[in-house]
Amino acid sequence: MSYENILVQKENGIATVTINRPKKLNALNRDTIQELHTAFSALEADAETKVIVLTGSGEKAFVAGADISEFADFSVDEGGKLAAKGQELLFDFVQNLGTPVIAAVNGFALGGGLELAMAAHFRIASDNAKMGLPEVSLGVIPGYGGTQRLPQLVGKGKAMEMIMTAGMIGAEEAKQCGLVNHVTTQEELLGLANKLATKITRNSLVAIRGAIKAVNANYEDGVNGYKVEISEFGNCFGTEDFNEGTTAFLEKRKANFPGK
Ligand code: COA
Repeated sequence: MSYENILVQKENGIATVTINRPKKLNALNRDTIQELHTAFSALEADAETKVIVLTGSGEKAFVAGADISEFADFSVDEGGKLAAKGQELLFDFVQNLGTPVIAAVNGFALGGGLELAMAAHFRIASDNAKMGLPEVSLGVIPGYGGTQRLPQLVGKGKAMEMIMTAGMIGAEEAKQCGLVNHVTTQEELLGLANKLATKITRNSLVAIRGAIKAVNANYEDGVNGYKVEISEFGNCFGTEDFNEGTTAFLEKRKANFPGK
């Protein structure tokens, strides 16, 4: 599959998806959102892909936001539809993937860019990264899940401050407040992402899929996360991975998970 706005590379069970509009600081236009949806759907269905790393091309930006030029003249109705469609195609979609997604934030992650990084299962950043939700400086609010996921990650007060001031925080502050897990140099960012991804590939991806569901359940309205955990825990007992994992432990060898 070839794309115009993104690159997809696969190696050793790890797929790297790079948003590739560096001249526009990788801003998310309609086509890019659609291509990301198509690529993530294909990777989720691909048995060879165990982990996805998501990053931006160039040295300046992960993603500098939704493409402002596309929605500047939208009506109330079009604005609502833009947010709904984007959340469905990309942001909720990424959060609910069974394949782990690591966002490697390599520069500006603003507006829709930070929202995309927050939809990933966890984030790492390069030390030049700058993150923020500047939407209110444009007269709009975050519309791709930012008002929900930022408080989940950094707490309500910090999220309110970031949203109301429209300010940016650096990578170290992002780490201190739980927005990213690790900070490294730009040169080492993808290496670190690959190291973490490789660790993940050694574990049971069936179990990881269940764990993602259970963790996400905590943030869904009307869903009892403990019940989802119980159900996903029980399901594991019917998998080949569970059989292999427990047998390998008892035989004092490393597990070789079939992923089923
Ligand atoms: N949507 C559309 N185009 C964008 C964009 C966005 N969110 N962010 C950057 N670009 C484009 C710029 O228009 C410019 O295009 P041009 O060269 O054709 O004029 C190009 O990317 C480079 O950006 P520029 O602003 O010249 O770079 P900079 O280094 O001076 O500033 C930023 C970098 C990130 C501070 C600045 O681009 C910015 O504030 N972007 C918008 C961030 C934002 O508000 N995002 C939330 C959107 S809801």
